[in-house]
Amino acid sequence: MGAVHWPRRAIWRRQPRLRSPSLAIIPIRRAGDPVLREKARRVRSVDSSIHKLIEDMWETMYDAPGVGLAAPQIGISLRVIVIDVPDHEPIALLNPEIVKRSGERQVDEGCLSVPGFRGEITRSVKVVAQGTDPLTGKLVRVRAEDDLMAEALEHEIDHINGILYIDYLPGPEALIPMSDAPEVNR
Ligand code: NI
Repeated sequence: MGAVHWPRRAIWRRQPRLRSPSLAIIPIRRAGDPVLREKARRVRSVDSSIHKLIEDMWETMYDAPGVGLAAPQIGISLRVIVIDVPDHEPIALLNPEIVKRSGERQVDEGCLSVPGFRGEITRSVKVVAQGTDPLTGKLVRVRAEDDLMAEALEHEIDHINGILYIDYLPGPEALIPMSDAPEVNR
């Protein structure tokens, strides 16, 4: 992918010195909160406030726990996402967008902003996204196919456009309560 990578969850948790004392776990906004419905603003410049935001997002996401988070979910209407899924390096992207998608598949999706539920929706098979790497300031592309990364890229980029996965369901009755099955939230 060419991105500079943030510490993986295991390293993050094992090495307290990587976690600055100022890191914060922020309450996650839930469906119904208007900030989740805004089209988030573009990040214009990468400064320390953006790095702090991203660190808070990692902290909040891993604490939840989840595999992805978008800034509006912690009440910040900016186009910033973080994702950490198996078989891919963790990524943080500024102003991400989907540049290519193809195919359709059914996925069982959940969201940290819709706790306790999941739903079956249609996502793309192949996804190519691009955005700015917050550590280098360079544009990077992320390619994913038929996996959790492909799903998470679409899910998190939906978030910064004010879209929730539940919007793709025919109605609230299609929400499935979480069972004891392992859950994946983002
Ligand atoms: Ni979500």
